[in-house]
Amino acid sequence: MDATTPITGTLSADLRQATWAVHERAHRCSYFGALFDGDLPLDAYTLLAEQYVAIYTALEEAGDALAADPVAAPFVIDELRRVPALHADLDALGGGVPRVLPSTAAYVARLREAASDPALFVAHHYTRYLGDLAGGQVVGKVLQRTYGIEGPGRLFYDFRALGSPSAFRTRYRALLDDAAWTPAQRGRLLAEAVHAFELNIAVLTEMAEEVGLAQPLAS
Ligand code: HEM
Repeated sequence: MDATTPITGTLSADLRQATWAVHERAHRCSYFGALFDGDLPLDAYTLLAEQYVAIYTALEEAGDALAADPVAAPFVIDELRRVPALHADLDALGGGVPRVLPSTAAYVARLREAASDPALFVAHHYTRYLGDLAGGQVVGKVLQRTYGIEGPGRLFYDFRALGSPSAFRTRYRALLDDAAWTPAQRGRLLAEAVHAFELNIAVLTEMAEEVGLAQPLAS
């Protein structure tokens, strides 16, 4: 199935199916492969955190802009906010002036467009936060294991204020399924979620080049 396939199930199930193939491609990005294997120096992670500051600032500003929108409002959840944690992480990681890669700037430009469309906003919201609460939790553990980072430096992955990540993911799927989407919004949301994954893959591909990995996508 892709984002153009007619609606068959709940929105959360359709989203998962629509993004399945692009998620598989995201798994093969060599940047995460090298990070998980403990093969990267810490500044290769700091550069990713710098991209996240730009991305989450735009995403969370889009949420603020849509906070009064009846469809988007339930997704604007304070405990999800990552920008304060990212600033604390960057202070601890000791980076200089954050660098924003061109692929990140393109992602940020799209997030600014999402600030006036609840369907686009929720597509990006789902792609980032649900990912952070699932596979992203593994990255937090890798930072601890590889670099010995506890607390600041890996606060981005600390969602304890939300309770159990898996319980939150269940609650989140209910939010997706219960919102009053029009068929047009639902179609835009599914297509934009695939696009959001592509924007993330573009950032990870550029990250791989920046940190000197030969193959941006592992075979
Ligand atoms: C090496 C890279 C990655 C790994 C190992 C990984 C792993 C996982 C795992 C284990 C889950 C949980 C699946 C489940 O609950 O059944 C998940 C879910 C998810 N991941 Fe990833 N992931 C990776 C990359 C990404 C990227 C780059 C994104 C997008 C930014 C992403 C977004 C998501 C989303 C949105 C979900 C929730 C799917 C749903 O339940 O609807 N992941 N990931």
